[in-house]
Amino acid sequence: MKKIGIRYQRVSDAGSLFQILSNPNFKYFSVRVASVKEEAKWLSLNPGRRKRREEFNYTILLDQEIIGGIGLSLDRKRPFTGEIGYFIAEKYWGRGLTSQAVKLVEQEGFKKLGLRRLEILMRPANKASERVAIKNHYRKEGFLKKAVKDRQDKFHDVWLYAKTR
Ligand SMILES: CC(C)(COP(=O)(O)OP(=O)(O)OC[C@H]1O[C@@H](n2cnc3c(N)ncnc32)[C@H](O)[C@@H]1OP(=O)(O)O)[C@@H](O)C(=O)NCCC(=O)NCCS
Repeated sequence: MKKIGIRYQRVSDAGSLFQILSNPNFKYFSVRVASVKEEAKWLSLNPGRRKRREEFNYTILLDQEIIGGIGLSLDRKRPFTGEIGYFIAEKYWGRGLTSQAVKLVEQEGFKKLGLRRLEILMRPANKASERVAIKNHYRKEGFLKKAVKDRQDKFHDVWLYAKTR
């Protein structure tokens, strides 16, 4: 069986990640990247984000192939809380791979970073993302009004799922 892994993102991942992120079917995902160069610039800032304990961003690998990304953003005022975000190449959707990646990033968050609370937010229409949270035993805690912005800067309500330890 092919194996899922995560590792810190590298600047050399820019081409693959840009291609995956350019998918017009990422309907409920707010990240927008204009070019490989812009993606590379963004990736180059990751070590600083880790040093400041702002964000820990990982590339998802299926064996050696780059198939997506998953990240932990730490709450600035509550540094024991992290939010998980993820995306995966469309040809791999529906195979449980993101759910496996969530388990791995959860270990990083809880065990390595010592977090006490992990959150996942998703728009109600993003059923695949909600399933990922449910399958990983995150609890539905509430409905956040106008909590996220889309690529057109329009605000949307989201479900809040969370797990604590
Ligand atoms: C959300 C996303 C990461 C899920 O990745 P994935 O690898 O397909 O996730 P998994 O296979 O682990 O789980 C998806 C589940 O959703 C289900 N699902 C998919 N589309 C669905 C739909 N329209 N309605 C109901 N369930 C749906 C799948 O059947 C699967 O559940 P199952 O294992 O019980 O059958 C992927 O769709 C994606 O990259 N989307 C674009 C980016 C994005 O929206 N990111 C999340 C932002 S909150």
